Amino acid sequence: MPLIHECVVTTLTPEGRPHIAPLGLIEEGDFWIIAPFRPSATLSNLMANPQVTASFTDDARVFARLVTGDRSFPLTDIANWPAPRLSGALAHAELEVAQVEDDALRPRFLCKVKHAVTHRPFLGMNRARAAVLEAAILSTRLDRLPREKIDTEIAYLKIAIDKTAGDAEREAWDMVMAKIAGHFETKNDHAKDASRS
Ligand SMILES: Cc1cc2nc3c(=O)[nH]c(=O)nc-3n(C[C@H](O)[C@H](O)[C@H](O)COP(=O)(O)O)c2cc1C
Repeated sequence: MPLIHECVVTTLTPEGRPHIAPLGLIEEGDFWIIAPFRPSATLSNLMANPQVTASFTDDARVFARLVTGDRSFPLTDIANWPAPRLSGALAHAELEVAQVEDDALRPRFLCKVKHAVTHRPFLGMNRARAAVLEAAILSTRLDRLPREKIDTEIAYLKIAIDKTAGDAEREAWDMVMAKIAGHFETKNDHAKDASRS
């Protein structure tokens, strides 16, 4: 399996407005590949505008906020590049789509890295941040995974939170856990309504 870089991708709508989404960029040979499932805004935007920006961050709250529907992040323009980056990014890469591999489920946009810039130092790996990332991804797949698998994975990931999280990581974890709990409460309510009717 190739290395996947989890980041925040800025694409541009056909009108030129920035749109951000958390995505994994697949590193394969000379290409970094964006593979969005259909349907998605990122996919439509990539069809319209081939120049995108990947923002890299070590702030787990960014992923937690994005998967809970908060996209209100400050963006910073990049000189001579149309798609802005997250203002808080540690680094960013400017990517241009060079080839498209169409697919009914998950097309692949093969991009060339045109330029990469570091803005702030990266101060090392952290298990709790990785655990939040895993839980954030899990929270985008709740309807596709068995409940038991979700509960088992969360129980395991929580060990890293309990042992290695700082305040920011705990805040991010709580956001993702609230989303997951809310999802199952709504599902239970629907099940109760259905059994009454
Ligand atoms: C860390 C992370 C990585 C993700 N990677 C992908 C990905 O590679 N492809 C994808 O379709 N969705 C991925 N997702 C889920 C998308 O962010 C989600 O589908 C989002 O709604 C994108 O939709 P939009 O382009 O319509 O805004 C990822 C989510 C997270 C938190």
